[in-house]
Amino acid sequence: MKRICAIPGDGIGRELIPQAVRVLGIVVPDIPVFQCEMGLRAYEETGFFLPDETLECIKQADAVLFGAITSPPKDTENYRSPLLFIRKEFQMYANVRPIKRILPDGPEINAVIIRENTEGLYSGIEHVEGKKGDRRFVTERILSDRGIERIIRFALNYAKINNRKEIVLGHKANVLRKSDAAFREMFYEIAEGSGLELSDMYIDALAHDIVRYPEKFDVILTLNMYGDIVSDVAAAVGGGLGLAPSANIGEKKALFEPVHGSAPDIAGKGIANPTAVLLSTAMLLDYIGRKKEGNLLETAIRSAIAEGHGTKDMGGRENTMEFTDRVIEMMKQGIP
Ligand code: NAD
Ligand code: IPM
Ligand code: MN
Repeated sequence: MKRICAIPGDGIGRELIPQAVRVLGIVVPDIPVFQCEMGLRAYEETGFFLPDETLECIKQADAVLFGAITSPPKDTENYRSPLLFIRKEFQMYANVRPIKRILPDGPEINAVIIRENTEGLYSGIEHVEGKKGDRRFVTERILSDRGIERIIRFALNYAKINNRKEIVLGHKANVLRKSDAAFREMFYEIAEGSGLELSDMYIDALAHDIVRYPEKFDVILTLNMYGDIVSDVAAAVGGGLGLAPSANIGEKKALFEPVHGSAPDIAGKGIANPTAVLLSTAMLLDYIGRKKEGNLLETAIRSAIAEGHGTKDMGGRENTMEFTDRVIEMMKQGIP
């Protein structure tokens, strides 16, 4: 039997995950959802950013639904982001971030960013040399043959399964002449003969083109930090962070979360847009083999928006709860 672990986290994550859990209760009432905690609030309450019970809950689950966490404002001794820890610990090496047109007056876009999720500048290996005034800040940026190859193969497989036609590789091989150059070289070696249209761009130019010509993109394959930045850019093109879902996929387990963070500026007001979390929930349903229910949820979100419903960031007038209510009403119309 499948089980889901739901982690609200901090800030608007605490307002959004309960809405997603409400939706899950309606659309897949047979699937148990276990709730647990991590992040800054968990640290303040338990002394741990990632309590053992939460790690256990994740281990027991097939899929995790996560809201967002707030990073500690200052460097905290030995702090490691629980989210980055989970991505690495469970080898969730592929971060899938689709940006599809969802607002009726939004630009034409139907792209998906596939971001390498365990390597690069996110190595966590940093140190400081020298004394203040004369310091050198050193971060190790690590790519490996294994890491490069598996993300390229993932992207090829994703494109095939999802009937995508083109992959563009985003890199900076003009500066990183060993690591990113190897990424580019291996991309063409491995992807040759796949039947897909292959190309590559420098990541800065790619970010420009996403804003200027969003309609031209299909699958974008890129490295960890580039993917982080470019996915927020693409989310802006698609109508804002409140609309952008994501999946962190590993061999055995996956974690679904909005692209956005804990949004302290609007937290506690009940106005956060639940669309990104609900679309992430639809992706989760698809992943655990409940594609029909995932489609139903995505269609319900789209129908509610098409009928003029939405939160303030989308130009609408509803709050988090009211907009979720509209989505649930739409969904119930589609539940036999
Ligand atoms: P953010 O994504 O939290 O917010 C950026 C802007 O987008 C804010 O103005 C916010 O109000 C708006 N926004 C985000 N989500 C929204 C929603 N659902 N509805 C309406 N508006 C929304 O980024 P930030 O402000 O740079 O970071 C805040 C905190 O979140 C930081 O501590 C950061 O480290 C953390 N963060 C966490 C995650 C995560 O847990 N996955 C992701 C990104 C940032
Ligand atoms: C994201 C976030 C994370 C990242 C942070 C919170 C560690 O920005 O998922 O996009 O940088 O990957
Ligand atoms: Mn990010």
